[in-house]
Amino acid sequence: MQPVAAMTKRLFIKTYGCQMNVYDSARMAELMAPLGYAPAETANGADLVILNTCHIREKAAEKVYSELGTIRRLKRAKERLGGRMVVAVAGCVAQAEGAEIIARAPVVDIVFGPQAYHRLTEMVARATRAGGAVLDTSFPAEPKFDHLPQRAADAPVSALLTIQEGCDKFCTFCVVPYTRGAEFSRPAAEIVAEAALLIAAGAREITLLGQNVNAYHGAAPPDKAGAGGEWGLGKLIGALADLPGLERIRYTTSHPCDVDDDLIAAHKNIGALMPFLHLPVQSGSDRMLAAMNRRHTADDYRRTVVRLRHARPDLALSSDFIVGFPGETETEFRKTVDLVEEIGFAQAFSFKYSPRPGTPAAAAGDQVPEVIKSERLAELQALLRRQQRDFNEASVGRVLPVLFERPGRHPGQLVGRSPYLQSIHAAADDMIGSVVPVRIGAVEGSSLAGTVVADRGIPA
Ligand code: 5AD
Ligand code: SF4
Repeated sequence: MQPVAAMTKRLFIKTYGCQMNVYDSARMAELMAPLGYAPAETANGADLVILNTCHIREKAAEKVYSELGTIRRLKRAKERLGGRMVVAVAGCVAQAEGAEIIARAPVVDIVFGPQAYHRLTEMVARATRAGGAVLDTSFPAEPKFDHLPQRAADAPVSALLTIQEGCDKFCTFCVVPYTRGAEFSRPAAEIVAEAALLIAAGAREITLLGQNVNAYHGAAPPDKAGAGGEWGLGKLIGALADLPGLERIRYTTSHPCDVDDDLIAAHKNIGALMPFLHLPVQSGSDRMLAAMNRRHTADDYRRTVVRLRHARPDLALSSDFIVGFPGETETEFRKTVDLVEEIGFAQAFSFKYSPRPGTPAAAAGDQVPEVIKSERLAELQALLRRQQRDFNEASVGRVLPVLFERPGRHPGQLVGRSPYLQSIHAAADDMIGSVVPVRIGAVEGSSLAGTVVADRGIPA
């Protein structure tokens, strides 16, 4: 056991971007807790402020710099009262920009990348002791997971668990292979042990995370003869589904090329694996897909979806799309629209192409004008919104098993999710952590309102 200091210091973490950052932020808070850092709701007056950043699109990085402006004022205010605020920038902007951040925003004391945060306590101590900036954007040979403490005693009902990091795909628009580094899978036994801790701490649903989660290929637990080997994601999900107390398993984000037979079989055979899949396609045009280095065609994607739906007919799909990739013509954009109409998505994310420095597509000469990108995005988003609404409206009148996660906005209300990741609220009281049948009454914006139809305890 680590000695636990009195919680006399305050730690504020602001998280940008993907769920992998949400997971990393939770682990950073767990690292600092034994040193007496309790979570704070705001940066005002905090002893340590961490911005855990995202670099995937331009605006995200700009938001960080503007936030640092606010933090500079809070830091000065604290110093005027004789206090000290240590400011750290973590995550992918830190990895990509490194010392640039300190040059542009001298308020920053520490800059560290996603592979270095297990050394956070040391970096904070150095910054506090000596003053002067601390920079760590290395990719250590030993994975940080070997150095992180055990999970905290409290876990959310729906918990995140990073099983894989980094990416070797090198899509030509994407910074991830540069900021998160080479693909790395955690050993299966380590993941199962972390899942067991999360369940003991109250988790009922676990979402397995990775930039390329279905490229997972971690060391298998040794068999009786002591032999090793590797597990893919399908096998790992099978092992996790055997853990008592775990009702639901999800995973994100997947690449279409890494959907293998085992994973499809898992969707067919494993009841705890939820019928929802985020499977980014980016574009419906083969020429764009090739220029993006996605390594599959639109028809490959269609075939994969057919196989998945054959295995799990009620599978709800989500995706990511990029419009206005360099050289995208009107006809090529239409192919994306056609693909969306054909497949039908329960939800989706869509973006204007944003040139990221250092990626191949940023140097392409045939950039699409901003107004055209905006027009295409508006059209695609209107279609995707319509599909999401249709999907949600089709749930009205049905009874869905809802895992309640937290209190709702109004007293006496709880909020949870359906198997299809729809957010559902209903009048209920002590049912957090239970899977409860809920009759869906109405669509309200992007969520659903329902009524609990039985006490509790139906299978997930
Ligand atoms: N421009 C626009 N969208 C991007 N994405 C990644 N890089 C870029 C970029 N440079 C989108 C992709 C990816 C999602 C996480 O973000 O759609 O799947
Ligand atoms: Fe980026 Fe492509 Fe890797 Fe996804 S698969 S993280 S989009 S490079």
